[in-house]
Amino acid sequence: MEAQVKRGERLAVIGQMAAGVAHEIRNPLASLRGLAELLGRDVGADDTRRRYVDTMLQSIDRLNRLIEDLLLFSAPRAAETDELDVGAIVSETVSLAQLGLGSRTVAITVTDPGSHLVVRGTRERLIQVLTNIVQNAVQATPDGGAVTVRSEEREGIAVVAVHNTGSYIPPQVRRQLFVPFFTTKPTGTGLGLAIARQIVTSMDGRIEVASDPQAGTTFTVEIPLAARPQPAVAMAG
Ligand SMILES: Nc1ncnc2c1ncn2[C@@H]1O[C@H](COP(=O)(O)OP(=O)(O)OP(=O)(O)O)[C@@H](O)[C@H]1O
Ligand SMILES: [Mg+2]
Repeated sequence: MEAQVKRGERLAVIGQMAAGVAHEIRNPLASLRGLAELLGRDVGADDTRRRYVDTMLQSIDRLNRLIEDLLLFSAPRAAETDELDVGAIVSETVSLAQLGLGSRTVAITVTDPGSHLVVRGTRERLIQVLTNIVQNAVQATPDGGAVTVRSEEREGIAVVAVHNTGSYIPPQVRRQLFVPFFTTKPTGTGLGLAIARQIVTSMDGRIEVASDPQAGTTFTVEIPLAARPQPAVAMAG
């Protein structure tokens, strides 16, 4: 418990720092983007400088996404929540992931859409959680492998399990998975899982990981179901 409190404090400090830095970077980045776009106006499509301008714009956009992630990561718990249909959000996430596969040959399927699991939260944030986890799964799956998403109810909890074949996370890596900026990818930010855990925790849920050299890897998101409104009890007399 002490370790958990320490980790919470460390994350809070990192979060505040990240928010501060992100804020300071955002404005100059916006003017850089505007100016790069202006420069690009006078450069024709067959001009070699076109590639320079396009690369600048792409890099700026990448930085912008990182900044947005950082700000979201350190944002205080969202006050506004809605009732969310977990199965519908799972289907949506999987459709997007399928569209984004490009030349990768990974089968992404929903095996069980889950019968009307309703949780409370912010739609975009739950989509972000599942997208991060499904993207990781796709990236970890060798071509020809499969990613399977299943959602079900278990004792009042919505459980979404994302399984992928062909990846194994050794214990020393598993300990670091949720640490901000931990990544094993050349161009990863290492924020995906840290943000996912932050969001799920804010929904009173948790993320579990199981990995086996033969069976592959499963990330399981568990979120308590939204309390059903109690039917008004008619008092006799
Ligand atoms: N399904 C998986 N199989 C194997 N390793 C995984 C899996 N999911 C995550 N990991 C490991 O966890 C690390 C951290 O994941 P996280 O999503 O936080 O960052 P990232 O994917 O590296 O970067 P980003 O999300 O910014 O692209 C990954 O670099 C990878 O080593
Ligand atoms: Mg990731």
